[in-house]
Amino acid sequence: MTKSPTPDFTPALGPRGSIGLYDHVIALLTREKQWRAKLLAALAPENGETIVDIGAGTASMAILIKTKRPGVRMIALDPDPDIRLIAEKKAAKAGTDLEFITALGDAEIDDQLAPGTADKVLTSLVLHQCPIPVKKSILASAFRLLKPGGMLLIADYGRQRSVFMKLAFNLVRLTDGFDDTRANKDGRLPDFMLNAGFSNVQERSVTLTPTGSISLYTATKQEA
Ligand SMILES: C[S@@+](CC[C@H](N)C(=O)[O-])C[C@H]1O[C@@H](n2cnc3c(N)ncnc32)[C@H](O)[C@@H]1O
Repeated sequence: MTKSPTPDFTPALGPRGSIGLYDHVIALLTREKQWRAKLLAALAPENGETIVDIGAGTASMAILIKTKRPGVRMIALDPDPDIRLIAEKKAAKAGTDLEFITALGDAEIDDQLAPGTADKVLTSLVLHQCPIPVKKSILASAFRLLKPGGMLLIADYGRQRSVFMKLAFNLVRLTDGFDDTRANKDGRLPDFMLNAGFSNVQERSVTLTPTGSISLYTATKQEA
């Protein structure tokens, strides 16, 4: 499948990166095992739940979840058809049956997934590379997809609290753009979550990595 010359999303490793290298780069530069383990622990998946991963990429997180709880309905959503091919191969190799949706995180997908369907929605390493209006509309979509009482989890570069972490995060900012990454660096995601309607917004952990600190945020969609 050929990628559009001007996709309306930032690809996994930025506009000039090669997605074939994505898993290696993430393993090397983000202390992936640590933050993914924290995300999985906070997610606490249960058989029978419907879980949506927005911007699932090569499906590393979706495969981890489905391997831990095979009875989860696991939906991997991503706009990039090329990365979906990699994800499908990885999922098949891991023996996991994921459902895939090729769409932007804020796209109208009611025909594929009805509002109020998901018990949990997660998104990892996606929002930092989106412009502010897209960050906000992805959060609005997550809210819409969740059942009342459902949970949102975000693992992404958050507030960079030390000079060292700010410097380290510049590597990501050079790749994904200084404008799109600024709100994350300044710690604005919790406000965006509150504005999208979420409650109980928390920064649960911070993992220091060679490319900046990755925060784990959680929130809930309150029962009506
Ligand atoms: C850095 S990768 C992260 C992949 C995966 N979540 C992970 O933890 O490894 C960012 C992913 O976000 C996707 N993406 C970019 N813009 C998006 C949008 N507007 N909605 C949903 N996904 C988007 C890209 O296609 C890419 O797969």
